This record gives sequence, C-alpha cells and structure tokens, in this order.
Amino acid sequence: MKAVRLHTYGGPLAFDEIHPPVIADNEVLVKIRSTAINHLDLVEASGAAREVFPIDLPWIPGHEFSGIVERVGKDAGGFAPGDAVFGNSTSGAFAEYMAVEPAAIVGKPPNLSFDEAASVPVAAQTAWQGIFTHGHLKTGQTILIHGGAGAVGAYAVQFAAQVGAIVVVTASGDDEAYLKAIGANRVIDYRTSKFETELADRVDVVFDLIGGETQQRSFQVLKKGGYLVAANQPVSREEAAKHGVTGTLMNLTPSAELLGRIATMLEDGRLRTDVATVYSLADVAQAWSDMAGGPASAARTRPRHGKVVLRVA
Ligand SMILES: NC(=O)c1ccc[n+]([C@@H]2O[C@H](COP(=O)([O-])OP(=O)(O)OC[C@H]3O[C@@H](n4cnc5c(N)ncnc54)[C@H](OP(=O)(O)O)[C@@H]3O)[C@@H](O)[C@H]2O)c1
Repeated sequence: MKAVRLHTYGGPLAFDEIHPPVIADNEVLVKIRSTAINHLDLVEASGAAREVFPIDLPWIPGHEFSGIVERVGKDAGGFAPGDAVFGNSTSGAFAEYMAVEPAAIVGKPPNLSFDEAASVPVAAQTAWQGIFTHGHLKTGQTILIHGGAGAVGAYAVQFAAQVGAIVVVTASGDDEAYLKAIGANRVIDYRTSKFETELADRVDVVFDLIGGETQQRSFQVLKKGGYLVAANQPVSREEAAKHGVTGTLMNLTPSAELLGRIATMLEDGRLRTDVATVYSLADVAQAWSDMAGGPASAARTRPRHGKVVLRVA
C-alpha cells in the first residue's frame, strides 16, 4: 500500500510502498478515504518535543481518519465490511490502510463527506473536553476562547453557545461574521485590540488555543475560582495560585462514546464542520508546508476555516 512516512526527524516526507497491516483478532482493517493534518503531526515530526511526543521511525503521521471497514478480526465486534467509519489513532492515518481497535471508531454521519468526517475527531473532541471536562463550563457562564476561528476553536464556540454560555472570542476581525454565525456573542480582534482592556467583566473560563503572552494576559480577566484551560503550553502554577484560578494543560483523550455523541450532533445539524483545504495524499508535502506556514502562509487566502484534509482514496 501507499503510505506517507518520515524517516528522520525533521526530514522530508516520503511517499513509500509498504506492506498493508495484518490485523490482530481484536482489530478492524480500515481502508482510509481521508485524513487530516494536525499541528501535533508537525511537532512530532520535527523532533523538537521528542521527550513528550516520542515516535518510532520510520513513522506514518495522521491522528484522525475516515474510511470503509475492509476486514473484521474474529474477536472484533460491532462493525462489518463496508461500514463507513471515522475515528482517532495515535498515528498512522496517512496511508491506504490502517489496523484499529473497534473502540477507536464510530459510524460516519451519512450527511458528511469522507473529507468532512476526517476533519472532526481531534478538533471536536479537544473542544468538548477543553471547555466541559477541564473548563467545567455551565449555562449562563461566560467563556473567552482564544483562537476561536481555528479548527478547535470553532467547535468550542458551537458547544459553548449550545450550552447557553456567553461566548467571547479572540480572532482576526475578518472572522467576525463567521464566528457570529456559529454562536459567538462577541468577537475581539486580536490584531487591533487587547482583550483585557475590551472586557468590562471577568469571565468564568478561558480556553486558550494560542499560548504565550495571550495566556499570561488571560489571568487578568478570569474570575476567582475560574478555569484557564490551555491546549498548547503549560499554565504557570504560581500565576494560577496568585489569581485564585485552576490552570490546566489539557491533552485530548479520544473517546468513541464522545465521538458518537458528536456524530449525532453533526447528523442532526446541531454542529457544523469546516474543511479549509483538501489535498490528495500525493500532495502531502504541499499540504504539510501550508499547515506549517499557518496564518502567514502565502497559500492562505481568507476566509478559510477548518482543517487541512488529505484525500487518500
Ligand atoms: N492539547 C490538545 O490535546 C490539542 C489538541 C488539538 C489541538 N491542540 C492545539 O490547539 C491549538 C489550535 O489548534 P487548531 O487546529 O485549532 O489551530 P488552527 O486551525 O491553526 O487555528 C488557529 C487560529 O488561531 C488564530 N490566531 C492566531 N493568533 C491568534 C491570537 N494571538 N489571538 C487569537 N487568535 C489567534 C488564527 O487566526 P489567524 O489565522 O487569523 O491569525 C486561527 O484562526 C494548536 O496549538 C494545537 O496544537 C491541542
């Protein structure tokens, strides 16, 4: 099968021909239709944080996918060949086939394309666990979401609005209409304004998808007893104690039960997903550099929301 592999930390991605996986009795073989790139793939591949995110080389990136069940191990229940599924993996989705445990997959919402479905698992579950599991967000509370127009942020905005929270978002001003359409009450343009001077009242929860000085300044706007949930850098214990808040660096814990609930919301239209760009697997190098370029990428033309997806088949 074709697979995208990294042979050395920081090296180029190779488009290799390798043997397809042989499934164990408790596994399911999925023919991958689409996968998506996450910032974590790039961090893992760079080797910059190899103590925290170790990988075995050669390594196949890819933490989420959609596809069709091809074969089912004799002890793997719940699925049959031909089922359309989506789910999470610790890596390995940039390939034509993947062996997964049934607990890692759920049925694909029929109204979503395979590209759309592949864009959901990491971002949507991170958003859910960030604001509810770690942020303890409740109806009537106010949440400030930094980076709300990004892949994770857009789900966080939708979930927070659905629970009846007041949703304040920092984002580029160009994203205001998009964010209001998905449930934000207020958008603060991070390029022109300082959220700590714009906000008249303190907030109950900050969901920080940006880090750095954005995180440092966030302590000023949190109520005592509030929660600062960070997605990409640890929260200073000293600062959290000084301000009387709980600070957490979250780490997504994928759950088929949660992904199943998210699938229901996508199917009944309560939740929307966005795909920014779709590349073919053969164009992975371009997709990878587009993702690495981030906001400053020359390839980026606004508006563009959601994930960078790779179409495998
Ligand atoms: N801990 C976990 O389990 C976990 C899981 C998934 C993701 N993450 C992390 O979460 C972060 C967000 O991921 P993502 O996939 O949502 O990223 P993304 O799609 O690239 O979105 C980033 C967003 O942040 C905006 N932005 C940039 N600088 C900003 C600032 N100073 N203030 C407010 N908004 C700003 C960008 O807007 P412009 O383009 O207009 O600047 C963009 O809309 C990443 O660091 C990722 O590694 C963590």
